[in-house]
Amino acid sequence: MQIYRTIADLRQDLKLARDNGLSIGLVPTMGNLHEGHLSLVKMARKQCDFIVTTIFINPAQFGPNEDLQNYPRSFEDDTTALESINCDAVFAPNIEEIYPFGPRLETLVTVPSLSQLLCGASRPGHFDGVCTIVTKLFTICQPDKAYFGEKDYQQLTIIKKLVHDLNIPLEIIGIPTQRETSGLALSSRNNYLSAEQKQQAAILYQSLLQTADALKNSSGLNFAKLENKALQKISIAGLQPDYFSICHTNTLLPAKPSDTELVILTAAYLGETRLIDNISITFS
Ligand code: PAF
Repeated sequence: MQIYRTIADLRQDLKLARDNGLSIGLVPTMGNLHEGHLSLVKMARKQCDFIVTTIFINPAQFGPNEDLQNYPRSFEDDTTALESINCDAVFAPNIEEIYPFGPRLETLVTVPSLSQLLCGASRPGHFDGVCTIVTKLFTICQPDKAYFGEKDYQQLTIIKKLVHDLNIPLEIIGIPTQRETSGLALSSRNNYLSAEQKQQAAILYQSLLQTADALKNSSGLNFAKLENKALQKISIAGLQPDYFSICHTNTLLPAKPSDTELVILTAAYLGETRLIDNISITFS
């Protein structure tokens, strides 16, 4: 497995791969890899010939009071894990390689309608930072397929929209969330939690499951009431909920009773740690 630090070196070898008829799978990450990330790489390995995992903690998607400085870094362990599942290439540029003029760019990629909702309301500019870096990675790597976790459902929806709207010739593949036995969604930010806090945080998935069950088992339920009930449960468990919203799968707007494709999304703080999760439901 080759580690690349510069865009030029990576591009040169990706061109060779493409010239040899190999399809390219891209897995963008910020490192500190867990089984969730590895499941993306494993799927890429099945579907593509040449796999590039990027490890870049993107300053442009962190707000001024967020955890950029403390974001967990584990490069050696990450590369060992990637090598063990036959990843071909790791692109791990430094900040200057990606943002030679600093991360406050004049050119931004933005999907305003979807980016200001839910997590975007509490993290202004976050999704512009995500959209801009993934667009840069798409143009640097020109992959056939790119893999993202469904845990970041809003991010995945926004990236699908930007790829569609900008006619970028690649397929975005969403991969199901990996969970601990408690149900807690795997996340690099779980590293900030103690064992006890991890148990506490499992309330997020429990609340999502309970709400999904309620929606599946009875018709005509009041969505706002269900959301409030879940918010209360999350607070009682000692978390500070940001939102708990029953939404339409594609627009992420509040769901209507007639909608058949729903996603329930939630975000909450446990201490300083922001946690997110979601569950999708389809009615036939
Ligand atoms: O989901 C992430 O880890 C990041 O938002 C991504 C997609 C790698 C962009 O920095």
